[in-house]
Amino acid sequence: MDFAIKVGTPEKQRGACVVVGIFESRKMTDSAKILDKATQGYIKNILASGDMDGKANSSLLLHNVPDTLFKRVLLIGLGKEPEFKEKTFLAAITATLSALQKTAVADATLFLSDFPVKDRADAWKISQIVISGMSHQYRFDQLKSKPENDQPSLRKLILCINNRTELAGCEEAMQQGLAIANGMSLAKNLGNLAPNICTPTYLAKQAKDMAKTHKLKASVLEEKDMEKLGMGSLLAVAQGSEQAAKLIVLEYQGAGKKDSPIVLVGKGVTFDTGGISLKPAAEMDEMKFDMSGAASVLGTLHAVADMKLPINVVGIIPATENMPSGKATKPGDVVTSMSGQTIEILNTDAEGRLILCDALTYAERYHPKLVIDIATLTGACVIALGNSTTGLMSNDDKLAQELLSAGELAGDRAWQLPLWDEYQDLLKSNFADIANIGGRAAGTITAACFLSRFTKKYRWAHLDIAGTAWKSGKDKGSTGRPVPLLTQFLITQAKATS
Ligand code: BES
Ligand code: MN
Ligand code: ZN
Repeated sequence: MDFAIKVGTPEKQRGACVVVGIFESRKMTDSAKILDKATQGYIKNILASGDMDGKANSSLLLHNVPDTLFKRVLLIGLGKEPEFKEKTFLAAITATLSALQKTAVADATLFLSDFPVKDRADAWKISQIVISGMSHQYRFDQLKSKPENDQPSLRKLILCINNRTELAGCEEAMQQGLAIANGMSLAKNLGNLAPNICTPTYLAKQAKDMAKTHKLKASVLEEKDMEKLGMGSLLAVAQGSEQAAKLIVLEYQGAGKKDSPIVLVGKGVTFDTGGISLKPAAEMDEMKFDMSGAASVLGTLHAVADMKLPINVVGIIPATENMPSGKATKPGDVVTSMSGQTIEILNTDAEGRLILCDALTYAERYHPKLVIDIATLTGACVIALGNSTTGLMSNDDKLAQELLSAGELAGDRAWQLPLWDEYQDLLKSNFADIANIGGRAAGTITAACFLSRFTKKYRWAHLDIAGTAWKSGKDKGSTGRPVPLLTQFLITQAKATS
């Protein structure tokens, strides 16, 4: 979908459809008033008829409205004016897109002043509309023998602002929105792919292809390289699988060589059966999404490279399957991680932390400014926070705050859980330095505690996206999260340092 920003009001323009907002009860926004005046009270008459009272997410499509150069007028209900906030704004945009989707309209014009979100500038609205528009049109039909016939007719959204002085900022916001949306689509595609296709080797090839088109440097470590590095923990997860594990590294250099990078580490388990600690059969297919952390790293690097941000970013992706077999790791096995710490693997289904710990040790060689890992790590996180909120834990409260704010701004929110020392005791092992599970209590936190043993040398934050990376049920599919949070965080970092 294409987007364009214009300065102007509805009476002077033409197009297939103009969208104007109506608040409850029947209160016209400024652009509705202008259009009403230009059409000699046409809108007012419609409202008086009772067919549209402005209730949130309602809509009414009008044809052949006299004295306007628009072929159609779409009235969108915005609900009660004082209650109009971020959430209702996004709902109104979705209602608009759904209403347009039912028509043959190819282009539609919106007036941003119709959507008065407190404390949010037009730039914010623009990037959100771009992301919503692109998400609304996202389809995953690569694996169908023929495309479904709900192809969208809408090809362009024209977003009108009042103030010419804000044009440059709005254009930049549009580019950022597009970069985020494209990064999300990439992450969604990888997540949605079948696990017999999206293997560690496939992920490595995607990274290499992206490096070619996006001025990134890709390198892939093979299992023999990991052996040399002493990555006994990562390899313990991989050893039950016929698919070769890969450690994928993608480097983006937008600042000078000497600038220390921000490192993103993404869990890339392309299928998690649980291993010998086998998962139950129900919904096990969803464990194809267990590489969503990896997908978000690729999506975010894609966005960063698109925007040419003046920072350095390194993506590290430990990629493997977690399978049961005669060669698989057994509960009770003790392995030595790259850090030298020994690990007693009490549950082979707690594999994410086992591959991340070696990747986190590997990250040290980049002398990172900070490290963020992103992982579908614990079912407990879904129990604690549900499907709307990402779990955040960090060894640095300032970094945690910055990530929370980025999530807030991007509409991709996280919530912080404590990483206090008390929890560390739960990981005691009688036979090794540390156990890979801490029991049922505080499962999300003990998983992060495990990772914290490997992140002492830098500022670090951990995002548990077990609840937010994909949807189950009839809308089953990847969400592309937390690409918006991560990209927004990096945009803000780039602004602060440049
Ligand atoms: N990939 C799963 C976590 C997961 C489960 C994400 C369900 C989303 C939905 C992870 O590898 C896992 O199996 N974790 C275990 C850890 C436990 C054995 C300590 C879990 O959460 O059950
Ligand atoms: Mn698991
Ligand atoms: Zn897993």
